[in-house]
Amino acid sequence: MTWSTGLAERGRLEEAARAFHAQQVARCAELGIEAGGYPLSHLAIRVPTWHDYVLARDAIEAYATSNLENVWNGRPISKIVLAEPIEVGEGLSIPLIELIPPFHQRVYRMGLEHLGFVVGAGHRDFIEEHRDVLTGQQFQSPVCMPVYRLFDDYTHVKFYEISLGDVCLLEGARFEGFQHADWHPADANAGPYEIGC
Ligand SMILES: [Fe+2]
Repeated sequence: MTWSTGLAERGRLEEAARAFHAQQVARCAELGIEAGGYPLSHLAIRVPTWHDYVLARDAIEAYATSNLENVWNGRPISKIVLAEPIEVGEGLSIPLIELIPPFHQRVYRMGLEHLGFVVGAGHRDFIEEHRDVLTGQQFQSPVCMPVYRLFDDYTHVKFYEISLGDVCLLEGARFEGFQHADWHPADANAGPYEIGC
């Protein structure tokens, strides 16, 4: 699935998120990872241009309670806490959307790009057990070292010890209302750098 602005509308995002969760869980099952029972950390959405980012940010914030927007790898990224988590299954819901504008140094999937699962305290054992089918690990901070699997369509699944929202809190951030980074790109329509659609 590629990105379109309408996908940031709550109903369409819910529908897309459920399908994406089901698809990624099925792919994990083929690799011997039973991901369907893990709580969700977040859903990451990548958009092709800064202009798309601002539109999607406005749309998602309309049904959210707070955000964090940090500059990461040279451009802002949003973490947006939903007023009502998106239910993707029995007792399973996505509390947070990570919204990512284009990054010009690599080729990425646009639209629903990855799902973060919370493995919990057994994270090290999880890594040992599934090492053969994992693509890599990220060392983002001492409390954030998710492992991930990349699929052929450039979507990912990521497995965290604790959720991304909890990572932010542990790192001292606070979700209070909405704040935006002071960011003015030279060309709001630069990009897209899209593949696999
Ligand atoms: Fe993420």
